[in-house]
Amino acid sequence: QDEILQDGHGRRFYYLRLSVTDVCNFRCDYCLPNGYQARHQQPDLSVAEARTVMRAFALLGTRKVRLSGGEPSLRKDLPELIHSAKTTPGIQRVAVTTNGYKLPSLIDSWQQSGLDQLNVSIDSLDSDEFARITGHDCLPRILSGIDRALELDIHTKVNAVLLSDGTQARLYQFLNWLKTTPVTLRFIELMQTGDNRDYFASNHVRGADLERQLINAGWQLIPRALDAGPAREYVHPDYAGRIGLITPYSKDFCTSCNRLRVSAQGKLHLCLFADAGLDLREAIQTGDADVLAEKVRALIGNKEVSHYLQQGNTGGTQNLSIIGG
Ligand code: GTP
Ligand code: 5AD
Ligand code: SF4
Repeated sequence: QDEILQDGHGRRFYYLRLSVTDVCNFRCDYCLPNGYQARHQQPDLSVAEARTVMRAFALLGTRKVRLSGGEPSLRKDLPELIHSAKTTPGIQRVAVTTNGYKLPSLIDSWQQSGLDQLNVSIDSLDSDEFARITGHDCLPRILSGIDRALELDIHTKVNAVLLSDGTQARLYQFLNWLKTTPVTLRFIELMQTGDNRDYFASNHVRGADLERQLINAGWQLIPRALDAGPAREYVHPDYAGRIGLITPYSKDFCTSCNRLRVSAQGKLHLCLFADAGLDLREAIQTGDADVLAEKVRALIGNKEVSHYLQQGNTGGTQNLSIIGG
């Protein structure tokens, strides 16, 4: 009952990222520079299949489920999926990662279904720049969705991918916003994937300079448990919001890994940058959580100690929308 899945490197996994679709309505420059290409034969996991996955992982010690995509809100049954996660015995927290496109109209129903935490991608607070990056001119709508989430007391984080050009201007806008907005803004180092090589080569920047700048401005690192996940978070007495850094190109990034991923096609991804997903669909379709749990237990030993991004590895990862980030 109290099992916690563990790999050969002493890491414990109590966090499942379940992608519910690989389709996205946005075309972020760094993620889908070539547009979206359907690559799959099978339909996405049904609610019943997703429930079997969540029950199996709960048996293995999973306490938090994040539903991701593609864009999860493109599924009409997302509220059911949230409810299913929330009512799975053992699962304590349910989160969604979204581009926020439908946030104002959907956030109330997500909360009623049991949503605890929300992550929204906003790479820039400049409307024009936002539209250039994502291909969609709808920043004000997303920001109003975030306001509503905060009104509903949903713990909210915002993701901004670090891009080399215009970093300072974006930072000032974000800082201004964080003075009064109680969200955690996470800067994420751009990661190289199979699809974005050229974009990566001209836009990747490390987070270290930004981090130094924050520390010099009085931001203080919050001490965290080793298995609290990859973000380092900072607070400042003059700001309602926090700042986090996700720096996969820094040394030892992977030692704090606490999550496993299952794609909408029912593949287990031991790492965001593993070579290929391991097919669980047959075991999922038995509907038997014990069978599926046993299968995952048998595969966990294959998890590598690092993603080797520093060495240019992209594994089988064409883009993050297929795996769910
Ligand atoms: P919480 O800690 O639950 O808020 O989750 P999160 O930060 O993992 O969630 P989110 O879906 O917002 O992910 C943000 C991004 O961080 C991901 O899409 C990745 O770009 C990056 N990230 C998260 N986990 C990993 C990881 O295990 N490895 C790498 N390389 N990047 C990760
Ligand atoms: N590198 C870094 N972050 C990425 N995301 C998508 N693709 C990449 C990439 N290549 C981010 C999105 C979203 C989160 C789930 O992953 O901006 O916030
Ligand atoms: Fe942008 Fe996320 Fe869609 Fe990729 S999956 S295009 S990062 S909104």
